[in-house]
Amino acid sequence: MKILGIESSCDETAAAVYSNEGLLSNIIASQLEHEAFGGVVPELASRAHELTIISTVKEALETAGVNLEDIDAIAVTRGPGLLGALLVGLCFAKGLSLRIGKPLIGINHIEAHIYANFIECTPGFPFVSLVVSGGHTQLSYVDKPFSHQLMGQTRDDASGEAFDKIGKLLGLPYPAGPQMDKWAQQGNSKAFKFPQALLHKGFDFSFSGLKTSVLYHLQEISEEKREAYISNNLADLCASISHAITEILARKMEMAANQTGVNTILLAGGVSANSMLRQKIETLAEKKGLSLYIPKPVYCTDNAAMIAVTGYLKAREGKYDDLHMKPFARINTDKGKLSRNA
Ligand code: KG4
Ligand code: ZN
Repeated sequence: MKILGIESSCDETAAAVYSNEGLLSNIIASQLEHEAFGGVVPELASRAHELTIISTVKEALETAGVNLEDIDAIAVTRGPGLLGALLVGLCFAKGLSLRIGKPLIGINHIEAHIYANFIECTPGFPFVSLVVSGGHTQLSYVDKPFSHQLMGQTRDDASGEAFDKIGKLLGLPYPAGPQMDKWAQQGNSKAFKFPQALLHKGFDFSFSGLKTSVLYHLQEISEEKREAYISNNLADLCASISHAITEILARKMEMAANQTGVNTILLAGGVSANSMLRQKIETLAEKKGLSLYIPKPVYCTDNAAMIAVTGYLKAREGKYDDLHMKPFARINTDKGKLSRNA
């Protein structure tokens, strides 16, 4: 079985092929045009997807050494994401499906981040997963494939959004997460004390208070001295902010593992590339004797390998969709329901 995966939910146009032998190709065209705006501009994203989707899919097929006719199904991101961006991938996938007469499989982007852990490994069920990305922070209990129960999520900013917005306050370019990570590695995480909201309260997250607290901290320095202050303390600021964010994430993961009694925990999404978070979660797994899975960094941020592998797992369970499938910008966020199309 060979599955073509297509991802276009945000600012990455990506295509990949996954088969019984594993991942055959993984092509990502990143959009650099958003950098100047300090965040993703939806209209620019849709236009860039439109420009690159054909060449990206072609390259994924060529690299995998397969023809379009060899593909058994097309897995495509339905949401959540930017509606215009999603429509480009979805409409393209529908066209391909009609052309080759093969079925479609709609993929929930957040679930795909979780199943990125299945690209090269086979984690056992049940597990607790923590998806930490630019758009989402979700803690789920997964008892069997595609049976996801949402335990907690962010009430305001996502963890990646927190890294990016706070990094912007420090003058770092978008997306600031990876830069914050680099600076944090040279700093003292106890140099400044920033708030860790809801640390012991339930499974929900909140990061907007941390952002405000960093803003107030910087505003205490007079404007003419602020730039020099940031530059002299950048490593310590980044380390202390990263500490506040990752403490909350690691603590909630521990609480979820304790409550559900699972033996396996999974981390996923762009922020799982963060070195401080990886280290804290690794220490937690070791302390509690849990099996831990974290995707390789290239599978943590948005990619189509995770879409293709999720499609592969769905196809094995006979979960296909038809041409009437619609994109969705947001998921149903009622607790206990992660997926709109599970
Ligand atoms: O999963 P992803 O590629 O896109 C979404 O689905 O949102 O995640 C992107 C997010 C950005 O906020 C980026 O700053 C963050 O992941 N990120 C990191 C690191 N690498 C990526 N945040 C902290 N440390 C990193 N090393
Ligand atoms: Zn993502």
